[in-house]
Amino acid sequence: MPPPAAGVLYCPAAASRASYGIGWLRPGNWTGSRHTAKQAPAFRKHDRYKASSYRAYNFKMPRRYDSWFWIGFCQVPLWDRAVIAALGPGIRSDAILDVGCATGRLLAKLADAGATRLCGVDLAPNILGVAAEKLAPRLVAPELRAADAEDSIPWPEHSFDVVTLTGVLHHFYRPDDALREIHRVLRPGGRLLVMDPELFPPLRQVLNLVLLLAPHAGDYHFYSRRAAAKLLERAGFRCLEARRVGLWAYLLTAVRPDAPTGPARQGAAPGRPSWRQVSRVVGDRSRKGAAGRRRRPGADGSGFSPVA
Ligand SMILES: C[S@@+](CC[C@H](N)C(=O)[O-])C[C@H]1O[C@@H](n2cnc3c(N)ncnc32)[C@H](O)[C@@H]1O
Repeated sequence: MPPPAAGVLYCPAAASRASYGIGWLRPGNWTGSRHTAKQAPAFRKHDRYKASSYRAYNFKMPRRYDSWFWIGFCQVPLWDRAVIAALGPGIRSDAILDVGCATGRLLAKLADAGATRLCGVDLAPNILGVAAEKLAPRLVAPELRAADAEDSIPWPEHSFDVVTLTGVLHHFYRPDDALREIHRVLRPGGRLLVMDPELFPPLRQVLNLVLLLAPHAGDYHFYSRRAAAKLLERAGFRCLEARRVGLWAYLLTAVRPDAPTGPARQGAAPGRPSWRQVSRVVGDRSRKGAAGRRRRPGADGSGFSPVA
């Protein structure tokens, strides 16, 4: 187990659960000494994807992440704009948590757009150090904590109005656990915004196969928009909208319902929107959008069942 970075509060309880510790940093008091050991802490058995994520984002990426080729290729600035647009005027008062916030790019843009109550959590303490430096000049001082979202998000339940998850879903080895944790920290009625790369079949299937054999920077599994919606429903969210952003990404908007809901069921559930209502393709005028296409229930293997 490497020593925690300076400014990171070390949590032995979390460490004993095979995490690497939970800590927090504030831009104002980040002193910046970095982990030096090029070795990931002992994660759960077989969790080689997490070790790969940790190695990449704690050691290789912190300084180069923002200028990384994939950021441009995936049109990430479009993601940030779509998230800010989806937040609407509530952005000023909402308590927002960015899960997997990395260098704090989205947090900085949210702060610039007027958000005042911001928090971020990431697996890699060193990348949070970069985020803390980036956010220091801003008037808003987001609270940054290092933790494994699949184990526990270090805030009490019902702490947030909005959780954002951009470019992180495909990293989760245990997505159900992470989404349940997100569900726990969201207040009833709170929103989850999930943005992730949307790769076209058969590229997605091929890539997922390759990732089974060789993890790359913690990437584990890329989902179709529909399969991702199914994951969210299983964790107790209600999906409100699913749409494409740019060429390579989808944005899912889901809400934590006031009353608990069970996992997605086949057939109609009162008040639950159909996939046809949820799915919307934006910027794809060349062919009929998902909203207009006829599909067999679960035809893409997601099991998401259209209701209407
Ligand atoms: C591809 S980056 C995305 C960063 C940022 N959200 C963005 O939009 O550019 C994935 C981030 O998720 C973090 N991450 C991966 N698995 C995680 C986990 N289980 N818990 C918390 N953060 C995680 C990684 O450390 C990395 O910083």
